[in-house]
Amino acid sequence: MAKKERIEKRSWKPGNVLYPAPPVLVSCGGTQGSKPNLITIAWAGNVCSDPPMLSISVRPERYSHEIIRTTREFVVNVPSAGQARAADWCGVVSGRDVDKFAGAGLTPAPALKVHPPIILECPLNIECRVKKSLELGSHTLFAAEVVAVQVSADLVDRKGRFCLGKCGLLAFANGQYFTLGRRIGRFGFSVRKRGR
Ligand SMILES: Cc1cc2nc3c(=O)[nH]c(=O)nc-3n(C[C@H](O)[C@H](O)[C@H](O)COP(=O)(O)O)c2cc1C
Repeated sequence: MAKKERIEKRSWKPGNVLYPAPPVLVSCGGTQGSKPNLITIAWAGNVCSDPPMLSISVRPERYSHEIIRTTREFVVNVPSAGQARAADWCGVVSGRDVDKFAGAGLTPAPALKVHPPIILECPLNIECRVKKSLELGSHTLFAAEVVAVQVSADLVDRKGRFCLGKCGLLAFANGQYFTLGRRIGRFGFSVRKRGR
């Protein structure tokens, strides 16, 4: 049996070091004649499967915070590598100063169940209604129910499976953007017999 290498550890400052995170483009607003806005969020995640829910954490000083707090709706648009530049830009400028859809060259399209538009170019659009807001400190966590989902038709294969992995998904870690690397397994592969 091979000898195990000794692994050394160091104590690190406690902080937000959970990476990679999904950099998503969240659309909000677009109600009663107001212009819709976009905010890039990396602190997002699934939190419940029944009902399907996800959360986003937003700083109160963001222009989008007030919009989401009052309208209680948003869309999580999952970008592919082609929208990486737009995702970064929407995370460094404010909707107080610019129209982000126009500035980023992104196309707004109707959502199925909520007022904010989806981003047509993003392969996956998750429409959400806020159920709970938690003021945690620097951020408000909006826990929201997924009320509708749209996917790009060219990513649905002949058997009706949604092949999101094909579009070049992004990951955000240590202040940098990455595309996902090659697939190395499938759910449960560790307990399956080889070749199955
Ligand atoms: C990759 C990336 C991830 C970000 N993640 C968050 C986040 O999780 N929460 C947040 O409040 N701001 C986050 N930001 C910052 C906002 O997107 C940024 O302040 C934006 O300009 C706010 O837009 P608004 O003022 O139009 O709402 C992130 C920015 C980038 C570039």
